[in-house]
Amino acid sequence: MAIRWPAEAIWEVVSPLLPHFTVEVLPEIDSTNTELMRRARAGQLEPVLLVAERQNAGRGRMGRTWYSSTDGPPAAGVLPSLTFSLGLPLKPGDWSGLSLAVGLSVVESLHPALQLKWPNDVWLQERKLAGILIETASVGDVRYAVVGVGINIAPRDGQGLSTPPAALSEVLPDLDAPAALARVVPDLVRAIQRFEVQGFAPLRTAFHARDVFYGKTVQCSDGLTGVARGVDATGALLVQTENGLKKITSAEVSVRPAL
Ligand code: BTN
Repeated sequence: MAIRWPAEAIWEVVSPLLPHFTVEVLPEIDSTNTELMRRARAGQLEPVLLVAERQNAGRGRMGRTWYSSTDGPPAAGVLPSLTFSLGLPLKPGDWSGLSLAVGLSVVESLHPALQLKWPNDVWLQERKLAGILIETASVGDVRYAVVGVGINIAPRDGQGLSTPPAALSEVLPDLDAPAALARVVPDLVRAIQRFEVQGFAPLRTAFHARDVFYGKTVQCSDGLTGVARGVDATGALLVQTENGLKKITSAEVSVRPAL
């Protein structure tokens, strides 16, 4: 059974905010991020929402592979996972904190129980529910941002995953992948446009309210250990160590609860 996507409803809400916006749904692609980056480099710089029912080469942060629970044929028109990318030209004064602003928008539009693991993993009860991958392409004097989001809708096998998975159905059993898309995308567009003008600073308190590590002892992949003290006005992670307060800005560093 074909999946019914709310493409038109999303287009109606978003196109007044983003002129020339289009929505595209594909049954299968390597990766929605890879595709929009390819298109941008080929000069296609219009705003677009690209949804894939299946990715066969999904990508995560730090060069990792993103395995969707859709890595098999969708059963009876129900998708256990939502994968999409939003591409748009963007010119914020300062790009730092964009990934945190995106994560915050995703959790706030979905459910109060969802939390953020710096910089932008979505967690539910100490397990990973969604991942976000942001990439940019510079073409002439335009910088095109590709914001990719993968959300586990239904419970999935955690084998081979570095963090045990959570599913949106645990807190929102009636929200399927198309409904989750309709709930997330318009808020996400507004959040990115607000970020473009205001930057991350006004979102700091809201981020702290969702920060899974706030006040906890954490261990960073660069060897640093200390107590997480939230983020600064640029979105850098603050860690109180024996040698003082350290700022972590590199998205290449991963953070875990200390054992
Ligand atoms: C991470 O947690 O490391 C980020 C995962 C991002 C996955 C999404 S799924 C849609 C988009 N296309 C991709 O190939 N990756 C992102």
